[in-house]
Amino acid sequence: MNSIISSSFYILSVLLLLSASLTTSSPIQETLIQCLSQHSIPLSTIYTPNNSSFSSVLESRAQNPRFTEPSVPKPELIFTPLSESHVQAAVICSKELGIHMRLRSGGHDFEAVSYVSEFESPFIVLDLTNLRSISVNINDNSACVQVGATLGELYYRIAEKSNVHGFPAGVCPTVGVGGHITGGGYGVMLRKYGLAADNVIDARIVDVNGRVLDRAAMGEDLFWAIRGGGGGSFGVILSWKIKLVAVPETITVFTVFKTLEQGDTKLLYRWQQVADKLDKDLHIRVLMNMTNTSTSERSVTTAYDGFFLGGADRLIQLMQESFPELGLTREDCIETSWIRSVLHSSSIPLDTSLVFASPKLLLQRITATDSFEGKADFVTEPIPETALEELRKRLLEEDNPSIVWTAYGGKMGEIPEYETPFPHRKGTMFKFHYFSYWQKGDKNVAQHISWVRSLYNYMTPYVSKFPRGAYVNYRDLDLGVNQKGNTSVTEASVWGTKYYKGNFQRLVRVKTEVDPENFFRHEQSIPPLQLKR
Ligand SMILES: Cc1cc2nc3c(=O)[nH]c(=O)nc-3n(C[C@H](O)[C@H](O)[C@H](O)COP(=O)(O)OP(=O)(O)OC[C@H]3O[C@@H](n4cnc5c(N)ncnc54)[C@H](O)[C@@H]3O)c2cc1C
Ligand SMILES: *[C@@H]1O[C@H](CO)[C@@H](O)[C@H](O)[C@H]1NC(C)=O
Ligand SMILES: *[C@@H]1O[C@H](CO)[C@@H](O)[C@H](O)[C@H]1NC(C)=O
Ligand SMILES: *[C@@H]1O[C@H](CO)[C@@H](O)[C@H](O)[C@H]1NC(C)=O
Ligand SMILES: *[C@@H]1O[C@H](CO)[C@@H](O)[C@H](O)[C@H]1NC(C)=O
Ligand SMILES: *[C@@H]1O[C@H](CO)[C@@H](O)[C@H](O)[C@H]1NC(C)=O
Repeated sequence: MNSIISSSFYILSVLLLLSASLTTSSPIQETLIQCLSQHSIPLSTIYTPNNSSFSSVLESRAQNPRFTEPSVPKPELIFTPLSESHVQAAVICSKELGIHMRLRSGGHDFEAVSYVSEFESPFIVLDLTNLRSISVNINDNSACVQVGATLGELYYRIAEKSNVHGFPAGVCPTVGVGGHITGGGYGVMLRKYGLAADNVIDARIVDVNGRVLDRAAMGEDLFWAIRGGGGGSFGVILSWKIKLVAVPETITVFTVFKTLEQGDTKLLYRWQQVADKLDKDLHIRVLMNMTNTSTSERSVTTAYDGFFLGGADRLIQLMQESFPELGLTREDCIETSWIRSVLHSSSIPLDTSLVFASPKLLLQRITATDSFEGKADFVTEPIPETALEELRKRLLEEDNPSIVWTAYGGKMGEIPEYETPFPHRKGTMFKFHYFSYWQKGDKNVAQHISWVRSLYNYMTPYVSKFPRGAYVNYRDLDLGVNQKGNTSVTEASVWGTKYYKGNFQRLVRVKTEVDPENFFRHEQSIPPLQLKR
């Protein structure tokens, strides 16, 4: 009896739910789907919340799970174009209908502005994941890569064709080529070859009028702006033509672990003095985290993680000359190919055995399971030992903290500040970024976020000033957000000059030129000057 009641109740609820979902389609969905179908867009590329795949499509490229919690606003629709003309249709229809659109390639934005709109709703997401073709041309040292490809896929396809070519972009293989390159993009080859954005030859972009433009058609100002000016401000980038760089057949990697005991900050201080002055072929970053040694004891681990464009013998010689304090030995060194070194650099915590794993791992599209809060700083003079000691103490106070020190110098210091929108070049010794990670269900989220904020405040005297530098690919909405609707350039320049210094004003001029009505916008997009009507 009971089961009959409950099963008919079940059927009734299902019917109610179904009729609700059939009748709740919003005007936005209807008008947009209608417009898209007039442009011959297949319905199979459109997901509304009533579609059973909607959540998985939204979440599989949401790389900071705190932004998929139920309380966070969701898009009315996700459109996953299969071709350039589909992207054109998306822009034309959304603009015509006044629908707010967010752009997503790999979904790694620290603040999720690519798939969450906190203060403008309703909104839709243009998810470029299906635009992911890669063609590598070894004869002219170039590759064309669509924005939905990941860095891992790009590296893999390059290595498939050649073992002496590479590309100097980020260390995380799941990062999307779209957002990454337009925000700068750095990895362990930055001291030799600069940023990913420094190695772009051409690009294709859909502008606010739905036109596809290449470098010649968009002009040098817009081409300048999209190489470091950050995503979501100027148009929908479709693909990049990039310049491949030379890598030797033999790369050497190493990781030297040190536990940071009280009063034992000398080596880290020494690293600060030498890291940006080493041979350009060598990059040594420092990764710090906290380890629970027992239920009551904690210690800080520092890993000196090296990447060298050459063999171990030359590396050992260089290290003896410039950084003997680390005590690097031949046994610490692993000689490998560039593609396998990518596997090594990608893993935090570091696992040297990855060097021996299959590069096919780079093709995996993994969704992050840990949420995080992160911030970045640029450092222009060594942080004193007393402050290093305080850092050590603070790391011991947080559950899953991490600090990464990335050496600058070399090529980074040779590229003029105004050559691309990314300005943190000459004089920057290293970049310093701090994170706290947590898992779903963690009760102390507010505490983790405030740990990061408090550390950022503590670091103020020791990092770049006037302005205090920031990196747009490590987006931080604490630095300031645009207002709803129109935004004043003066207010935006507070966060804008942190990311771009003097280049911010030129970005505003380009924005005013190419998108005066501010169609492409988010919490931290470049605002146009208010035009008199
Ligand atoms: C785990 C992890 C590791 C990382 N490692 C590195 C690293 O080693 N080096 C480094 O430099 N950075 C690194 N980053 C930062 C990363 O480069 C940025 O988050 C980058 O913007 C991500 O690009 P995406 O396409 O994956 O992200 P998305 O979230 O899709 O996009 C980021 C921004 O670009 C916009 N955008 C996306 N696609 C387009 C497009 N086609 N046209 C115009 N605008 C677009 C979005 O609207 C958003 O504003 C890392 C981030 C994470 C989470
Ligand atoms: C889902 O919503 C869309 C758009 O409103 C509508 O066209 C479609 O019929 C709905 N599908 C289902 C299965 O409810
Ligand atoms: C969900 O969307 C996919 C792709 O558009 C489609 O194949 C499927 O039929 C849709 N399912 C529902 C229940 O609407
Ligand atoms: C911390 O770093 C050490 C050394 O890099 C590593 O062995 C350990 O797994 C890391 N711990 C976490 C929680 O990441
Ligand atoms: C350390 O232990 C705490 C619980 O005591 C736990 O929450 C945290 O995740 C652990 N951190 C690491 C890095 O293992
Ligand atoms: C926004 O627009 C309104 C009306 O045009 C204007 O009064 C206001 O000053 C603008 N705000 C900013 C921040 O520009």
